[in-house]
Amino acid sequence: MQTLTIIQPDDFHLHLRDGDAMQSVVAYSARQMGRALIMPNLKPPISTVAQALAYKKRILAALPENSNFQPLMSLYLTDKTTVETVREAKAAGIVAFKLYPAGATTNSDSGVTDLFKLLPVLQEMAEQNMLFLTHGEVTDPEIDIFDREAVFIERVMKPILAKVPNLKVVFEHITTAQAAKLVCESGDNVAATVTPQHLMYNRNHLLVGGVRPHFYCLPILKRESHRQALVDAVTGSYAHKFFLGTDSAPHPKNAKENACGCAGVFSALTAIELYAQIFEENNALDKLEAFASKNGARFYGLPENSRTITLIKQSQKVPESVVFGDNEVVPMCAGQEILWSIQEA
Ligand code: NCD
Ligand code: ZN
Repeated sequence: MQTLTIIQPDDFHLHLRDGDAMQSVVAYSARQMGRALIMPNLKPPISTVAQALAYKKRILAALPENSNFQPLMSLYLTDKTTVETVREAKAAGIVAFKLYPAGATTNSDSGVTDLFKLLPVLQEMAEQNMLFLTHGEVTDPEIDIFDREAVFIERVMKPILAKVPNLKVVFEHITTAQAAKLVCESGDNVAATVTPQHLMYNRNHLLVGGVRPHFYCLPILKRESHRQALVDAVTGSYAHKFFLGTDSAPHPKNAKENACGCAGVFSALTAIELYAQIFEENNALDKLEAFASKNGARFYGLPENSRTITLIKQSQKVPESVVFGDNEVVPMCAGQEILWSIQEA
């Protein structure tokens, strides 16, 4: 049977939630990932160093015994973040700040209303070599939801990069050809994460034959040509600028299967298997290890993980749902056979 051994991957965009919900999902990531960049959009958001350190402790306490999983912490950027916060964060080992434009997505009410007012904070991040992670969508109600990433590039990303040219930016969960192009054309200080769902699906999956709430995430799935552009980006000649970030974002089943269903795809259960399937389908299995285990570590200035994992070409059926606190969560590809599995050590 075909096997593929790679350096243990990292997930540079992960929502773990908190409390019982976190307790239910953290082991799925810890089973396959060496490290994960933990998203700070809790309620209330993780916006101070003290909150981040306490959250990190709760994550470590929720891990299975003997786990080598390391959470990398980020702070939620708000209108109130100061230059001092950046210095304090650096000293405390926090690696990044996450921009949520106010109102852009789940728990983003405390997000930034005008990024240009935070230029000194961004300059300090550049100075301290801290990463600036962006949810790259405008929230202007006049802008069509399918255009919000492309408009963000023109209105925010390009002007910010012009003003703080040495800022280390991760354009999170990119979904468009425009975003892929921007990353390819920018300097080595600009990179992007790409989720499994944006590599696998287009907006027809979300909307044809009925509204399928488990395909609803933000930024929203785009048309097929954009999906193809993302596949080209992660396998093409600038592939070193793109890396694994699942954006695994669990929500209770009933909150998604709802008249106002919330955004987020829960992929942590079989993340590396899904990426393996995508890369193989695109004749690029040889590029999986760099995407999953090398490019992100290099961009973050971290060593590659010392362990390896072995993938095996053996299909597995993804469960219809798994426990999520006192509820359940429906994973990506629920009920389907997927082509790869992890070989248990
Ligand atoms: C994320 C969540 O649920 O926290 N949802 C999503 O659709 N991606 C928030 C986010 O990353 O935008
Ligand atoms: Zn996210």
